[in-house]
Amino acid sequence: MTARILGIETSCDETAAAVVEDRSRILSSVVASQVDVHRRYGGVVPELASRHHVEAIGPVIAEALGRSGAGVEAIDAVAVTAGPGLVGSLLVGLAAAKAIAWRRRVPLLAVNHLEGHIRSPFLDRPEIPFPAVALVVSGGHTSLYLCPEEGAYRLLARTRDDAAGEAFDKVAKLLGLGYPGGPIIDRLSEGADESAVPFPKAVMKDRSLDFSFSGLKTAVRRLAQAEGIARGSAVGGEASPRVRDVVASFQRAVVDALVDGTLRACRRERVRTVLVAGGVACNRRLRRALSEAGAEHGLSVFAPSPEHTTDNAAMIATAGFLHLERGLHAGPGLLADPNWRL
Ligand code: KG4
Ligand code: ZN
Repeated sequence: MTARILGIETSCDETAAAVVEDRSRILSSVVASQVDVHRRYGGVVPELASRHHVEAIGPVIAEALGRSGAGVEAIDAVAVTAGPGLVGSLLVGLAAAKAIAWRRRVPLLAVNHLEGHIRSPFLDRPEIPFPAVALVVSGGHTSLYLCPEEGAYRLLARTRDDAAGEAFDKVAKLLGLGYPGGPIIDRLSEGADESAVPFPKAVMKDRSLDFSFSGLKTAVRRLAQAEGIARGSAVGGEASPRVRDVVASFQRAVVDALVDGTLRACRRERVRTVLVAGGVACNRRLRRALSEAGAEHGLSVFAPSPEHTTDNAAMIATAGFLHLERGLHAGPGLLADPNWRL
């Protein structure tokens, strides 16, 4: 029997809805980004985010249902991000999901945003072998999970301070390059000299697999101050060759730490499958490094297509299938959990 899930995602600054059929067939996926709203503040402003979700959620869901060719009557369940994220933003998606599930009398499925990211590679490749190590790298999270089997997650490592995406955003901000920093640094680094600045390796001194990126960010700030690379120096024009070398070197240090941690996790857990997901999984240097490391160490690396790396609702819907198949339905009293741990 075919099943269709409507997915809804509003945990941060993207209002998204999607209809997915039979686990991974995307019938529609709509993402309304608020990037332009938050750009002038150099980061997401929670109050503005929830207000824009309220405005966008109705039209975004209507468009996803319309484009799916199925309509609301053909939906068998509603999957919604219940956390982690901004509480005011989560509540908007939750209210919409509850209303639709209640009116259609179909199951409501509470999905953890990080489980959504981890399931995103399956949208492009439904058959990925387990066990797997999952590297989740986004603006809010940088973690490694062991997935012994489908739907099971054990936290192996996390960042002790900044998330990798947050480090990209903060470095771009302090160099005056714009927002969000990840895609900008990705672009500026192309063809630059990534060994120009020997930044410290962003790994813990102890034997844990945890990450730490705030020292690296501070090193970039010190260098910028010492060399008089003023904030805003690149606004309006292109960044100077020196700035491009600096960000390329920074990017390389982040990528080295992520690849190093992932390889150590695979070795320790004797795993040969790697999943990489989250906004930073869009980074071309990271994708290249992981696939090279995979080839060298006999690992199979699976990354979602670039449009499924940043926040979207297709990943929430596809994760919802695991809950639907197991009968894990949420009740009408489902609450947002801004700190929900996977
Ligand atoms: O997964 P996501 O959309 O939202 C969160 O759940 O946080 O990730 C957004 C983050 C931002 O920090 C952004 O700078 C980063 O992903 N990002 C990138 C790239 N594209 C987005 N970082 C590095 N390289 C990219 N190409
Ligand atoms: Zn995310």
